[in-house]
Amino acid sequence: MKIVLIGANGQLGSDLVRVLRPAHDLIPLTHADVEVADAQSVAAMAAQHKPDLVLSTAAFHKVDMCEQEVERTFAVNVYGARNLALACRDHGAALLYMSTDYVFGGDLERCTPYTESDLPAPATVYGVSKLAGEHLIRAVLERSFIVRVAGLYGVAGSSGKGGNFVELMLRLAREGKEIRVVDDQRTTPTYTLDLARQIAALIETDQYGLYHATCQGECTWYEFAGEIFRQSNLEPNLSRARTGDFGEKATRPAYSVLENGALKRIGLDRMPPWQEALAAYLAERG
Ligand SMILES: NC(=O)c1ccc[n+]([C@@H]2O[C@H](COP(=O)([O-])OP(=O)(O)OC[C@H]3O[C@@H](n4cnc5c(N)ncnc54)[C@H](OP(=O)(O)O)[C@@H]3O)[C@@H](O)[C@H]2O)c1
Repeated sequence: MKIVLIGANGQLGSDLVRVLRPAHDLIPLTHADVEVADAQSVAAMAAQHKPDLVLSTAAFHKVDMCEQEVERTFAVNVYGARNLALACRDHGAALLYMSTDYVFGGDLERCTPYTESDLPAPATVYGVSKLAGEHLIRAVLERSFIVRVAGLYGVAGSSGKGGNFVELMLRLAREGKEIRVVDDQRTTPTYTLDLARQIAALIETDQYGLYHATCQGECTWYEFAGEIFRQSNLEPNLSRARTGDFGEKATRPAYSVLENGALKRIGLDRMPPWQEALAAYLAERG
């Protein structure tokens, strides 16, 4: 398959390059090559490369900044998604778009994972923008995969956010700092190499639609930090914090665990338990 990968030097993008390159005619593009918020740039990309599939990891996803920079957020995540869908439609390509657990508001009482049929109710500008992106793609394009993910970490680190949570925890532990982590937000940390392998399996099918794809299980960020230190044989001064303690502008969901329901239905859920994925990541980073 001829695949254009947008955001190829990002966190997920870097692992997608590793996984997809051996099996496909892969054209890895960076932000310098294409601007998804610019319809002409996207159309020119599609006209030049004529891909079978466009796979985009591009997003403006600094969640607190999104609350203030609404126009920029919508330009990339909403109009950008539409630009990609229109270009794919015009050139006969399929599209894979990355979305987020933040399409769910995640109320405090919730304790069952969200499936693809649960009604989204985002509580942040970022979540609203990604959901609007999903809808615009589905309105324009028949052949699309929309993949909602959560809590990504990978060896490249998130270029949009600057690093990843695991590396931040390990650095703070090395520096001997007191570490406070929220214990009232439940999610599923997900290693981008596992996700890249899952996406590689999904695009081999023609089962277009909406998918949740995270590692198995769930934890709070505090519990995730505890497991990072346990597996790394570190015993830093770790304590619980609560949402709002750090003056965040965006209201993050208290519960945003996703069930890989659609992947399970087509017999394709390949995601490992989050603790196993973390062990693989720690081994890989050395
Ligand atoms: N990270 C998470 O925890 C998380 C959770 C849920 C969902 N997601 C979604 O998963 C996807 C991948 O996340 P990630 O952590 O791999 O992100 P990332 O490391 O920030 O990678 C995003 C890539 O897209 C490029 N990009 C950004 N804006 C662009 C634009 N306007 N036009 C073209 N390219 C652009 C970036 O390039 P530059 O850096 O050079 O701009 C980067 O290569 C995103 O869509 C995000 O919304 C992430």
